[in-house]
Amino acid sequence: MKNLLIKVSLLVLVAALVLPAFATAADTGPDLFASKCAACHGKDGAGNTPMGKNLKLKDLGSADAQKASDKELKDTITKGKGKMPAYGGKLSPAQIDELVKFIRTLKK
Ligand code: HEC
Repeated sequence: MKNLLIKVSLLVLVAALVLPAFATAADTGPDLFASKCAACHGKDGAGNTPMGKNLKLKDLGSADAQKASDKELKDTITKGKGKMPAYGGKLSPAQIDELVKFIRTLKK
């Protein structure tokens, strides 16, 4: 009986450790963008934030930003660029794909 209790508590512990990882992996592009990117780029990607103005960010929906290929966008997010932080260590490739898809929806 005691053994079973230990097994159950271990299972609960493992689930508590593993589940949040799955929850973030399932995050959608708009959620990820709002939580990780909007501080600089603004919720709509236009860069209308104090930080965005300071960094002179271009509007991610502009023709200039949209002319980058999916691979280029992915590379910028994964490896960073200039003052743009790298997200390769913080986000999964699937999450970065979601972000690229989201950036495409910003196209004007
Ligand atoms: C600390 C502020 C900051 C945060 C947070 C940030 N960025 Fe950036 N981002 C920048 C800067 C600065 C540049 C311009 C880099 C350059 O061209 O030198 C940039 C450029 C980009 C570009 C290339 C656009 C272009 O052509 O100039 C993309 C795409 C981009 N960011 C996506 C994202 C995504 C997606 C996130 C969230 C995962 C994010 N950024 C978070 C600062 C930030």
